[in-house]
Amino acid sequence: MNSIRRPLIAGNWKLFHGGLSATPLAQAVVAISRELDAVDLVLCPPFTALPLVAIACHNSRVQVGGQNLYPKDQGAFTGEVSAPMLRDVGCKWVIVGHSERRQLFGETDVGVREKTVAALAGGLIPIVCVGETLAEREAGKTLQVVERQVRAFLDVLAGHSVAIAYEPVWAIGTGKNAGPAEAEEVHAAIRSWLGDLADRTRILYGGSVKPDNAAALLGCANVDGALVGGASLDAASFGGIARAAQG
Ligand code: PGA
Repeated sequence: MNSIRRPLIAGNWKLFHGGLSATPLAQAVVAISRELDAVDLVLCPPFTALPLVAIACHNSRVQVGGQNLYPKDQGAFTGEVSAPMLRDVGCKWVIVGHSERRQLFGETDVGVREKTVAALAGGLIPIVCVGETLAEREAGKTLQVVERQVRAFLDVLAGHSVAIAYEPVWAIGTGKNAGPAEAEEVHAAIRSWLGDLADRTRILYGGSVKPDNAAALLGCANVDGALVGGASLDAASFGGIARAAQG
């Protein structure tokens, strides 16, 4: 595996640990990261906890990311947060197009593309999420849906090294992860659509990744890391996944 495709384990805290509890969790991850020199670690807390987490991770190998952004830098957009603002509080990364954003907040492929453009223009590395629903998988449409989602933003990635997270919607927060063969099939397909970017894009798997299934998933040829929800809320389980990535 080339150096750009070093394993990346990102924790998506979702709507948890937005206040003072963020600091001890981030500090515990920083302590674990000291034993792990072959894995890149990113924490994505709620917006309100970003400054605290950035302080806890300062001078460590753990980087910080937002869970979302608005595609304009500033303006009359009540309640939104922009790429320059995320940068200002220490973010290097941002999650774009998470399935919860697509399903609960009406984000479209066009919107995901716009946010990817804004993230890159603002100097953030996007982790762009794609994935099929259970109904789409059962209808045999997995690759068709994921290809549509990837092609919606593919051309704006030219010249950049980003992460794409394949997160089957039916596997998120359900305890049902895709098996390694199911994940690898989709990851290999995504890699094949990337063209020139294939060797410089990390493709993460997400959806019920836990310490006990991480090694098998991360062992797949085209799985370059994980986007972890529930298991990132506990430093020991997030650390267990990171250790599986270290190998
Ligand atoms: P989960 O969430 O690990 O809790 O399934 C993953 C995600 O939504 O990114």
